[in-house]
Amino acid sequence: MSSGESRRGLWGSKLGFVLAASGSAIGLGNIVFFGANAYRYGGGAFYVPYFVALFLLGIPMMIVEFGLGKTQRRSFPASMRKACGAGGEFFGWWSQINALFIGMYYITILSWAASMLMKAFGPLLEDGRASVGPTFGATLASWTPAAFVVVLWGLNMVFLSKGTKTIERTAKIFVPLMWVFMIVLVVRGLSLDNGFQGVWYLFTPNFDGILDFSVWRGAFSQMFFSLSLGLGTMVAYSSYLPKKSDVITNAGMVSFLNCSFEFIAGVAIFSILFAFSLYPGSSTGTLGMSLVVIPSGIAEFPAAQAVFAGLFFFLLVIAGLTSSISILEAPISAIRDKFAWPRGKVLALIALIGLPGSLVFALPMMLDRGGEPTQTTGLTLLDLLDHWAFGYSLLIVGLTEALYIGWGYGISRLRNELNATSFLKLGPWFDWLIKLVIPVVISVVLIFNVLGEIGAFYGTKESQLFDGLNWLPFAVFIFWAIATFGGASVLTRLTQAKEEGIERVES
Ligand code: PFF
Repeated sequence: MSSGESRRGLWGSKLGFVLAASGSAIGLGNIVFFGANAYRYGGGAFYVPYFVALFLLGIPMMIVEFGLGKTQRRSFPASMRKACGAGGEFFGWWSQINALFIGMYYITILSWAASMLMKAFGPLLEDGRASVGPTFGATLASWTPAAFVVVLWGLNMVFLSKGTKTIERTAKIFVPLMWVFMIVLVVRGLSLDNGFQGVWYLFTPNFDGILDFSVWRGAFSQMFFSLSLGLGTMVAYSSYLPKKSDVITNAGMVSFLNCSFEFIAGVAIFSILFAFSLYPGSSTGTLGMSLVVIPSGIAEFPAAQAVFAGLFFFLLVIAGLTSSISILEAPISAIRDKFAWPRGKVLALIALIGLPGSLVFALPMMLDRGGEPTQTTGLTLLDLLDHWAFGYSLLIVGLTEALYIGWGYGISRLRNELNATSFLKLGPWFDWLIKLVIPVVISVVLIFNVLGEIGAFYGTKESQLFDGLNWLPFAVFIFWAIATFGGASVLTRLTQAKEEGIERVES
């Protein structure tokens, strides 16, 4: 192995890469967010936008991200610099700072799932369904999640300690395990009385919502997040691929695995909802659906309730862990490529910034938000930051990526490079998809987002106000804007360390 290979790392096998990439894609997004979105946007009404998002946006952008990593053999900012110049690097760093923010609160959400896992064998189901909501509220408002934040950061560091080697090993254990657990849950869900009703609701096409813009926006953001696009993760992972890899087929396979898992998760969730007539109202937040409503259904299972509740939360934790390591690997590889620091030093730096960040989101109740037990300080901050770091950044990065690669690097050049080692070949239609169709579609979604913002700045609507802290939504926005735009310009300007070894993974 050349020094370059040992410095950046290389996947042990094709299977290892597919498992790691699908471990990244399959996560909280597939269970927590998909279930909530599909329900909120009306079951069958969600599928048309979902499939359009998959074929028009998801798979093509996955091919671009895999292709960028494989051909440039660098992390996202360094790949963008090499392919498209300093402007590209700037957006690369911008996305990496957003990735770090998302990684911070993603781990906090995992800590809530881990706390609930612990409670599954204690007070969670003591009084059946009645104790689930109060236990969740009490857990969020306690310091237990903070303790789990520390444990989960420790696990992330262990799984990332030897780069591809440890990431691959983690994926090889956890990814098959999460499929098994999900299949157990879906079989149990479908065998419940009326379980199939939920499946009909989920799969009966419904064109009512097709003109509703928010359904499209929901499906597009969901797709980006679910496929781990727009944060540089897939670029980092594919930069560890051997040069001859077939990334077009791999992109199809990873997308297929991800969406299949999402479908199965949807079936499990909807069968439980309908079997026990749990129809969450509009006030049930995204997290409430998975962390409260589903366990409430499990509490009514005829037998082994604690076992199924434990299995469900354990599934969330392992699916989330294989994703959180990928979110962190993106900035880790970016810093390593820029400064040529050893992995241990970069891991320490990321943990030093990220762990306190996750702890902030785990803060229990400190603000009085009118007696809502689940509205803790941490969750309030998470909600405000998520609106910017997730709601905007993935789509903005997708847009700039499509434009830079489409017009700057030249998508036909990338397409030819990828076709040369691929079983499936992309035709010239792909060029127009990346150069024109995707930028137009994402721009329309973004413009509507911004227009919505003008009416009411996020977090300041009457229902969201809280005494004396009306400035908080603005403060979070300003903090986010300075951290991401300021941080990205500084990092772009810093001199690149000599690219020793970066380019040598040629095999
Ligand atoms: N795809 C992951 C999920 O569905 O939970 C989340 C994620 C991981 C998003 C990595 C973005 C990313 F880069």
